[in-house]
Amino acid sequence: MISIQNINDSIYNIDLSELSKNLHNENMVKDFLEPPGTNHYQLLSCFSLFFDDSILLDIGTNEGASALAMSYNKSNKIYSFDLVDNRKINENLNNIHYIIDDITREYTGNDGKYDNLVLSSSMIMLDTEHDGRFEFKFYKYLKKINYKGYLFLDDIYLNKIMVNFWNYITEEKMDLTNLGHWSGSGLVVFK
Ligand SMILES: C[S@@+](CC[C@H](N)C(=O)[O-])C[C@H]1O[C@@H](n2cnc3c(N)ncnc32)[C@H](O)[C@@H]1O
Repeated sequence: MISIQNINDSIYNIDLSELSKNLHNENMVKDFLEPPGTNHYQLLSCFSLFFDDSILLDIGTNEGASALAMSYNKSNKIYSFDLVDNRKINENLNNIHYIIDDITREYTGNDGKYDNLVLSSSMIMLDTEHDGRFEFKFYKYLKKINYKGYLFLDDIYLNKIMVNFWNYITEEKMDLTNLGHWSGSGLVVFK
């Protein structure tokens, strides 16, 4: 079970230096190695230790750093989504699968394609535009399909819209900013 106590007990033992060699951008490597409370990568790696042989979703791949951090526990399979391909990462990481598509099929209207994948995911990391549009839509989508599991939200204090979004969520939630990203890190539990 994920709790603040359990995270505290293991997060400071995580060393991402070996994994960081897979990133192709020096600035990204610097961010990746920042400590808990500054950046969220160590927290994402820590989350991966709470699951084995599980599916974890990363929405908003960008250069690939969040998917890489989530792949820390190699027994899990990571599916990482983005609308565009901006990866700057070693392609030979066989527990990460990249998908260029909108997970809610917003643009094609072909709803339902990824429902089974989402429902079989133990944890979902959501880190997209932070303008509220996709965040609210995705949250409602999870409720509609009756998702059970954890939703990790990056940047919950980045702007007013994200604060409103965080406050709007009615499920059990934990503010993990002190162990995650300075811009706000939140974990929602869908029971
Ligand atoms: C802040 S970056 C992600 C950073 C990455 N998660 C990390 O922690 O290293 C945001 C990314 O979300 C992507 N994005 C925006 N809307 C999206 C959507 N509806 N589905 C998937 N990705 C999306 C953008 O293309 C961009 O690459």
